[in-house]
Amino acid sequence: MPSFPNILININGVLAAPEEARISVFDRGFLYGDSVYEVTQTIRGIPFRLDLHLERLRKSASKIGLSILTTDLELKKQIARTLIALDEPTVYLRLVVTRGGEEEISLDPNTPGRENIVIIAKELKPYPIEWYEKGVRVIIADTIRNPLESIDPNVKSGNYLNNVMAFGEASKIGAYDAIMLNHHGEVTEATTSNVWMIKDGTIYTPPLRSGLLEGLTRKALLQISQHAKIPVFEKTITPQELFEADEIFLSSTTKKLIPITTLNEKKIGTGLPGPLTQQLRQLYDQHCEHTLKSFEPEWREILGLLG
Ligand SMILES: Cc1ncc(COP(=O)(O)O)c(C=O)c1O
Repeated sequence: MPSFPNILININGVLAAPEEARISVFDRGFLYGDSVYEVTQTIRGIPFRLDLHLERLRKSASKIGLSILTTDLELKKQIARTLIALDEPTVYLRLVVTRGGEEEISLDPNTPGRENIVIIAKELKPYPIEWYEKGVRVIIADTIRNPLESIDPNVKSGNYLNNVMAFGEASKIGAYDAIMLNHHGEVTEATTSNVWMIKDGTIYTPPLRSGLLEGLTRKALLQISQHAKIPVFEKTITPQELFEADEIFLSSTTKKLIPITTLNEKKIGTGLPGPLTQQLRQLYDQHCEHTLKSFEPEWREILGLLG
């Protein structure tokens, strides 16, 4: 089987090594980015928050008029089969659903064609410890986030060209990532994570109306902070406010909380990860353990169904 031992692909239920995995060039995901996707990871073999990711996948799909015919149970079973075959405890898991498309090049989303389901599972190695201990440098990109009135950035679609361009601006100069503004000049998010700032003991993150993906980590952090009685608000944020913040950090499922210690050329706060970011990181780790336990029984059931 696979000659890349730590990567396995599942296309419409067929497992394949990466070099054998094939999808049609007529697939609309390939031609137009006409697809939706989700990324999560496994922790000790269990896909983290899978139900919430599937819920968001369907939400994204419905916003672009794509009805996913495959049931959640079938998606979960295919994920389980892939994970069993890969046999790694910590796995990056990407689930892509495209609108399909067969031997026809047409923009029309109503042309017949059955969805394609692609699962990419690969061993997730730990991220560099310096990111968390020293923080990272991020830039403010010239490329702006697409407006809500266009494809809502809250749709996690295969069309990420703005984010690709913004990330390219960062990587070209050796920065970790880029924060994107909207067309009003307000902060939205980074290319694959949400943005937070801390000022005078209060936590702020931009509201969904600024145009951003409602990250599941973001959602959890809002609840965790409220629960810990740390003042937290969703509010429009300007780049100036970011530059003057005491602490800034990014949040996402696979990378959790990453402190930003330099923004463009400016040191943020003391230039080291701040105390509140560190506190939130700990609280979030505890939350992950707790959440994982709540997903464990259902996952065992899914594994049991595979026989
Ligand atoms: C554009 C964007 N924003 C934010 C996030 C963070 O979302 P989550 O916390 O659900 O991983 C992602 C995740 O991939 C993303 O692509």
